[in-house]
Amino acid sequence: MNVLLIGANSAIAKAVARRYAQRGAALFLAGRDQSRLTALSQDLLVRGAASASTFDIDLTDTGRHRELISAAQSTLGRIDLALLCHGQLPDQAACERDFSTYHASLEVNVVSSLSLLTELANTLESEGSGTIAVITSVAGDRGRRSNYAYGASKAMLSTYLQGLRGRLHTSGVNVVDLRPGLVDSPMTRALKKGPLFSSPDRVATSIVNGIDRGRSVVYAPGYWRLIMFIVRSIPERLFKRLHF
Ligand SMILES: NC(=O)c1ccc[n+]([C@@H]2O[C@H](COP(=O)([O-])OP(=O)(O)OC[C@H]3O[C@@H](n4cnc5c(N)ncnc54)[C@H](OP(=O)(O)O)[C@@H]3O)[C@@H](O)[C@H]2O)c1
Repeated sequence: MNVLLIGANSAIAKAVARRYAQRGAALFLAGRDQSRLTALSQDLLVRGAASASTFDIDLTDTGRHRELISAAQSTLGRIDLALLCHGQLPDQAACERDFSTYHASLEVNVVSSLSLLTELANTLESEGSGTIAVITSVAGDRGRRSNYAYGASKAMLSTYLQGLRGRLHTSGVNVVDLRPGLVDSPMTRALKKGPLFSSPDRVATSIVNGIDRGRSVVYAPGYWRLIMFIVRSIPERLFKRLHF
């Protein structure tokens, strides 16, 4: 299996990569900071990866996305799975005060992802097979006052993926929307941890299982599907009064 991991230095991406390495996959790791990519690639080779190539890129540099996908394609031969893992959790209060803060996060969470998805969709559509998977978030399921800036960016990705899934399904390409709940990773370093937090490993297990089963939307861990069903069911007149 040939796997392209974008945002490969993310805690969730690394946990997913370890699982594919144990299966003997060939991996292509894209992210920023060559030294961390090299360390990750060496670790994955020890764990059984057939190969682990690296590509150093700031993913907001959309002008290099075609180069990235071409390099992955020529190294791997064929892309069986492309997984987008990069993202940024902006400070909600800062986004409310100053649009430039929010704008910068949209470049990471939305613009870079849509550019990559345009390249990947065309590449896998012409190959006639494969899976495109993107880590969005349960935060995109409903706008909450405490993090609607981040949630709205993930909701845009989810809606885009829904349409892309419809476009590509006749080409044999599956499009997967991966929605983790709260994960104890560098992204949530500043947040107080509670019982709903999961480890990157636990989330990676749900992600890999969901992709294996050809699912369209994966909640990770799975109990978030029920939690978000309940959250989405709360009437708006009550929801707008809730402090969360
Ligand atoms: N943690 C959670 O509670 C949670 C919940 C739901 C969804 N998610 C989503 O899960 C995904 C992975 O997050 P995580 O929890 O694993 O956190 P993480 O370890 O902080 O991973 C985020 C990754 O995105 C990378 N990144 C950000 N901007 C970039 C850029 N311009 N160019 C290249 N790489 C960039 C970061 O690179 P650096 O390492 O160089 O900073 C980091 O490796 C994200 O899409 C996140 O939104 C997380």
